[in-house]
Amino acid sequence: MKIGTVKETRAGENRVALSLDVVKALVKQGFQCFIESGAGIASNFSDEAFKNAGAEVLSNASDVFNTVDVLVKVNAPDQSEIAAIKEGTTIISFIYHLSNPQLVEQLNAKKLTVFSMDAIPRISRAQSMDALSSQANLAGYKAVLLGAHHSARIFPMLMTAAGTITPAKVLIFGAGVAGLQAIGTAKRLGAVVEVTDIRPETKEQVESLGGKFINFDTGDVKIEGGYVKETSEDTLKKQREILSKHLAAADVAITTALIPGKKAPILITEDMVKGMKLGSVIIDMAVEQGGNCEISEPGKVVVKHGVKIVGEMNLPSQLSQNASESYAKNIQAFLTHLATKDGFKWEMEEEITKGTLIAKGGEILRK
Ligand code: NAI
Repeated sequence: MKIGTVKETRAGENRVALSLDVVKALVKQGFQCFIESGAGIASNFSDEAFKNAGAEVLSNASDVFNTVDVLVKVNAPDQSEIAAIKEGTTIISFIYHLSNPQLVEQLNAKKLTVFSMDAIPRISRAQSMDALSSQANLAGYKAVLLGAHHSARIFPMLMTAAGTITPAKVLIFGAGVAGLQAIGTAKRLGAVVEVTDIRPETKEQVESLGGKFINFDTGDVKIEGGYVKETSEDTLKKQREILSKHLAAADVAITTALIPGKKAPILITEDMVKGMKLGSVIIDMAVEQGGNCEISEPGKVVVKHGVKIVGEMNLPSQLSQNASESYAKNIQAFLTHLATKDGFKWEMEEEITKGTLIAKGGEILRK
């Protein structure tokens, strides 16, 4: 089977879907690998290194499209790529099919087979394929560094001849994959870390990382399969009231609260921002889902009421080498679950296949 990737076209995207180690492993398993020249440069993988790993480097994207059976990407194909990809190709990338029905229609109209990396179920068997987690983990780390970068304060306590500097206070919203990594990173930098989540079971995890869990009555929160299903506006209102005073004392707030498939819950209103200290920083990781902060702006750093609000949408791209390495490992695990070197197994009732196969043979399977 011929597998290939091209240079990502999304603005600011530095990641690539195949890494040197993964090419080596796939070639060893009997797959043939093809890379567009320059596709790995922004992740520090040269054409030469890809050749040494066993890939064939092709001079442009259309050569890759015309050669491969399976096209692996980080981001979904854009309009010109969809036009250039040959009918019958299998695509594996982030698709976010629920929020992009039009894209799915277009891919399906070309009779492409589409697997979505963001639809990998969060079950233990699929952990090695879980690209949302591998990328959110790195993003949680980067969010803390970005918070430190934009703050005029240092994180650790410092006792010097010029006086004592007290540690910074970091408030983290959501203790999922990104949030837990953010707690660990902020603690390692010496900050005092407070955390809010509405899944009670996160308290223990937060405390084991040295964070202080903010208790409140989560009332009517519905949890299913480890995920929050729904929260009422009433619960969110109570939560915001409790968080206001913690936020007013924070130097950096990092928001990662997510309810899968829904708009992000508003946990910081404009009034709450007004109550924050001058020069404090909010890193709104949920900005692409509408934001946990009411006044964050996608892709921008804005200063409002003396607070810097960062709406960076692609934090993993800023750690492109590790992010590509991890993503490529997820792709390899997924691909070897789905296929052998001779072709796909098409186990249509198997949970991972069923959950991720969005379109096949001109039929949309998941809406
Ligand atoms: P996750 O599902 O592992 O964690 C989300 C957490 O939010 C869960 O623990 C959940 O209980 C919690 N939560 C839900 N409602 C809450 C509320 N009202 N208050 C407090 N906590 C609440 O998600 P993951 O993978 O950690 O991702 C977090 C967010 O970061 C997502 O919105 C994701 O899209 C985003 N993200 C952003 C990136 C960027 O570059 N900006 C990169 C990667 C992820």
